[in-house]
Amino acid sequence: HRHLTGIAGLQPHEIAFLLDEAEQWVDLNRSATKHDGRLAGLTVINAFFEASTRTLLSFEIAGKRLGADTVAMHGSTSSVKKGETLIDTAVTLNAMRADAIVIRHASSGAVGLIADKVDCPVINAGDGRHEHPTQALLDALTIRRRKGRVEGLTVAICGDVLHSRVARSNILALTSLAARVRVVGPPTLLPPALDRMHVEAFTDMDRGLEGADVVMMLRLQSERMAGGLIPSPREYHALWGLTPERLARAAPDALVMHPGPMNRGVEIASSVADDPTRSAITEQVEMGVAVRMACLDVLTRRRRGTPGWA
Ligand code: CP
Repeated sequence: HRHLTGIAGLQPHEIAFLLDEAEQWVDLNRSATKHDGRLAGLTVINAFFEASTRTLLSFEIAGKRLGADTVAMHGSTSSVKKGETLIDTAVTLNAMRADAIVIRHASSGAVGLIADKVDCPVINAGDGRHEHPTQALLDALTIRRRKGRVEGLTVAICGDVLHSRVARSNILALTSLAARVRVVGPPTLLPPALDRMHVEAFTDMDRGLEGADVVMMLRLQSERMAGGLIPSPREYHALWGLTPERLARAAPDALVMHPGPMNRGVEIASSVADDPTRSAITEQVEMGVAVRMACLDVLTRRRRGTPGWA
């Protein structure tokens, strides 16, 4: 079996294949029935060791719409609280004969560790600052549907890039699909060695947004900042917040994205987040269900006796 631990390791045609597969589920999800039984009899365990609204619920909904039996394990109410190790937890889930395990964990690399210990496909639902591959896929699908393509677009990923698994997975996916990717943010929140990731770095927000086709805002991740937020949220908004005035620097039809959850008034002004024509934020959530259906379907195909990846 094959896992989805990150965008790293996926070929451009494999990313495009998953996006193509997700299209059919967008249509089904907009229909009255919303049901396809192809995963009937399969068990999907959603093991979340870190808080989530979108990712956990969309994996649950995705599994159920495909007919799987889905069960959720929350780290905060599990035996992890009694000191059970991550590996022992993984071996325990494996013994229950799951057919797919979806994992979110605060430690980078935790999902890869579990993938080596179990007998079924593992999907990374976000691990520390490492990767959040299904978020990058749903973002790419949103861009592709709104703009008709990803190739050649200028995408500005703005804010707390340093702590963001969403930024990392998006940089990998969007550069792989031949977009021009910029990262924009305070020097203290931009990771080193960005040139190796084939992105252009800007510390000036106005310059970074100039002519961008897509403006992707990131949440300030205070839970990953040991020393607290520098600068203050108010200063941050003044210098790097996405306001209507700043958005005017981007292309006239620029798409505004945010993976959620948002800090309104910090990285993004409410008037921009709620702009009915420019903001794709709720569409991103909708695409999340379709992309996760595609991932669960494709990764369990071999178990169901049909060819898996293209
Ligand atoms: N975008 C995202 O991963 O949201 P949740 O943390 O709510 O799952």
